[in-house]
Parts: sequence; C-alpha cells; structure tokens
Amino acid sequence: MRQGSDLQDRVALVTGASSGIGRATAIALAQAGARVVVNHRAGGDSQARAAAVVEAVQRLGGQAVAAAADISREAEVEHLFEQAVRHYGRVDILVNNAGIEHPAPVADMTLADWKRVIDVNLTGHFLCARAAARAYESQPADPARKGLSRGNILFISSVHELIPWAFQVNYAASKGGLSMLMKSLAQELAPARIRVNSIAPGAIRTAINRPAWDSPESLARLLKLIPYGRIGEPEDVARAAVWLAGDASDYVTGTTLFVDGGMTLYPEFRGAG
Ligand code: BGC
Repeated sequence: MRQGSDLQDRVALVTGASSGIGRATAIALAQAGARVVVNHRAGGDSQARAAAVVEAVQRLGGQAVAAAADISREAEVEHLFEQAVRHYGRVDILVNNAGIEHPAPVADMTLADWKRVIDVNLTGHFLCARAAARAYESQPADPARKGLSRGNILFISSVHELIPWAFQVNYAASKGGLSMLMKSLAQELAPARIRVNSIAPGAIRTAINRPAWDSPESLARLLKLIPYGRIGEPEDVARAAVWLAGDASDYVTGTTLFVDGGMTLYPEFRGAG
C-alpha cells in the first residue's frame, strides 16, 4: 500500500491553472510526481501563461500539458476530460480551482454579473466534478491502490463560503453553494471510494485581489483582517492541495480546510465584544 503524499503516476487536472493558486497548485502537484493537465481559458494571454506553467513543470523534471476550456460550458468540460484521458490515459485528481469575481453594489448588479459568477464558480465546478466522478467510476481500479481512494475531487472555495461579503453577493453565494455541493457530493461518492474536499483560502496574493494588497495603505487595511499578520501566498494553498490530493489524507472526506491565516477567527473580537 502506498502512503505519504507521493503522487507518482497519478493524473491531476487543475482548472484555471494559468495563474495564481491554480498555477502554484499545478506546479506543486507535478513536483509531488503527478502528471498535470493545466486547464486555461481560451483567448487573451491565458494560453501563453498556461504554456509557461507547462514549461516551469518540465524544467523541474515533471510532466504537464495545457488544455483550453471554459468550465462553464458543458461541451467544453466534456472535451477537456476527453483530452486529459487521451493524453494520459486516465484522471485521478480534479482540482476545481477556476473562479472569478464581478463586484457591484446590489442595486447595480446586473443579471449578467450574477450569472457569470455563478456559471463559473458554481455550475462550472459542478460540471467538472460530474465529469471527474464519471471518469473515476468508469476507470479500472488499480489493484496496487487496494483500500485507498479511487479518485479525488478538491474544490478551491473561499473564506467567503462562511464570511458574508457586501458588494460581492454573487461571489459569496457561489462559494456558499460550493460548500453544500462539496459535502453532498462527498456523502454521495464516499461508498465509491471517491474523496471530496474543499480548501477555503483567505487573502492570497494573486491578480484577483490586487487592489487589496498592492499599496501599503490597502495592505495595512487587509492585515487587520488576518491575525497571523501576513498575506497568503499561492504556495500556502498549493501545499495544502498536495496533502488533500494525496494518500496521507486518505481518511479525510467532506471537509473544508481553511488556509487563511486566521481570517475566519473574527479578529475584530480580540479584546472586544
Ligand atoms: C477573494 C479575494 C479576497 C479573499 C479574502 C477570496 O475568496 O477571491 O479577493 O481577498 O477572499 O476576502
């Protein structure tokens, strides 16, 4: 029986892997031995960024391939999984990471703003999880993995699956939804030995929240919300993802692991209340 977080020969598909947390997670999984499918959006500079992630993995001696797909589109998700299976023969780990924000005061939030965020952050995660579950259930079980999971689904959620977020009601609702999607799927798929968990990152230094950290004033404001006293780095999340993706966490399913420097500890209550 294999043990530890060694992911040798496992195939991991990471959505939204051309930047930020997805990029760091794709690289960390490859460093742990997995062969990685680096999903990215078509268009813009995403393709070039994904190619750079593949190159970074290869420079480290790992294996990766880039694959474009908009995860909110059913046919593109089906095609993405077909590409993964065509390239590496199977899929063992899904990191459902892609996510977007479209903030606005509720009175100004258009239906399109609402739908786009729900479509990617919630429906897109459902479509990928469904494709992964289908793949895991149809793949022959590896006899060397007797007693261990036959597939792994990991959602990258947010502290906002718990913390309400004014001006981002679409985003917070999508992450609250992810929490129940994850737990219900975990309950449904455990008998098939498919593990399902979430990581809820706090403030991580990526492009999505640049205004929250790119000036000394905004960083000081942000740090008041983080008892641990520093902003998170994508690698903080990536290391947690490697653990949850690997056999070291084999008995863990249906759980959200908060990687947030204590952001969910209500720091404003220290000495108050
Ligand atoms: C959001 C970031 C935000 C963080 C903490 C994340 O889910 O994407 O923009 O900084 O939560 O509020």
